[in-house]
Amino acid sequence: MANERDKHEPSLAVQRIASISRRPAVRPGPDVISLSSGDPNFETPAYIRQALIDAITEGYTHYTDNQGDPQLRAALAAQLSAGGQSWTPAEVVVTHGGSGAVAASVISTINPGDRVLLPEPTYSLYADLVRFVDAEPIFVQQTADFHLDLDALAAVAPGASMIMLCHPNNPTGVVYSRSELEALAALAEAHDLLVLADEAYDHIVYPGVAFVSTLTIPALRPRLLYCQTFSKTYAMTGWRIGYLAAPEPIVKAAARIHRTFNGTMNAAVQRAALAAVTTPSDGPALRCAEFDRRRQLALDILAGVEGISVNAPDGAFYLFVKSLDGLSSHEMLMAADEFGVAIRAGNEYGPSGEGFVRIAFSSSVQEVQEGVTRLGHMFRTMGGSRHRQTL
Ligand SMILES: Cc1ncc(COP(=O)(O)O)c(C=O)c1O
Repeated sequence: MANERDKHEPSLAVQRIASISRRPAVRPGPDVISLSSGDPNFETPAYIRQALIDAITEGYTHYTDNQGDPQLRAALAAQLSAGGQSWTPAEVVVTHGGSGAVAASVISTINPGDRVLLPEPTYSLYADLVRFVDAEPIFVQQTADFHLDLDALAAVAPGASMIMLCHPNNPTGVVYSRSELEALAALAEAHDLLVLADEAYDHIVYPGVAFVSTLTIPALRPRLLYCQTFSKTYAMTGWRIGYLAAPEPIVKAAARIHRTFNGTMNAAVQRAALAAVTTPSDGPALRCAEFDRRRQLALDILAGVEGISVNAPDGAFYLFVKSLDGLSSHEMLMAADEFGVAIRAGNEYGPSGEGFVRIAFSSSVQEVQEGVTRLGHMFRTMGGSRHRQTL
């Protein structure tokens, strides 16, 4: 019968995601050096771990407010308001990591057939989510130095619903300038676009770079969906907590979606997050300084290697490396695997990432040292053999 389908076959939503996604389905095995994931190798700070233990002891073991712990939301609203625009606790929903914030944002605001602009290369989750809701991801290539191409964005903006910005950018490490963000705000206003800003790496910005948060751009305020996570700033990837801040009707809708998918958030983890937000600490700055040392180490190792170009990232903890020998992302990924190093294919992050790979330096110094050294040998070997073949 025509409408009889194999019930083991994934739904159309899954098929749509699979049709576009290049996100790896499995984590690297124990026998390789992993420079592939965005997981800081630091322990979560002791005062945050202790706050979790205290919270459990104090009985934070029940369902909580659907939108998130009220005290945590109040603390977050106060912190957000330090950006110059005022935010209320009702405009914040606590989510299952930054991923939960981005997912709830997209599912609660985007309809099937909508067009969503993705300046790329960019974080690969976004396109998957856009596909999930049967909307259309519109990849807009960034400039050669990976900044926003505002003319290209203006050309496709009419009729679009949202633009998704990763700032600082994963995988390129670019931090956008104030004038760039202001121009983006003007464009969004002209075309009535929502602006989702994912600032997961806002505390990992290197010396000499001025980070301007989208929170400080007044023209963005009425259309801003600000997504944040505790994962990177506080080394809390495994705790699964983040938040979305947006105008109240959007937050209400996103909270409904988030609750539908996840139920309420973990009560005790939210108390630990409250300690993270309210306890003064130089931890984030110290961890950023350590990432900077690893960044320099990785750049130094690759400095003399011919056949590649490497941008020094402004922020986040990734090198985005281009093959000048015409190697594909896939070829480099496979070769790295033979050298015992796991990295990510550049084309996972959008079509213009083809020919690039992403190297994370969030692992230990020893792993960065050994892994990047092996990759240096790999690039030399591959570039050399490619030249010999073309002679
Ligand atoms: C830009 C960006 N946003 C969001 C996330 C997801 O963060 P979380 O672990 O909080 O879900 C990541 C993780 O790598 C990321 O790179």
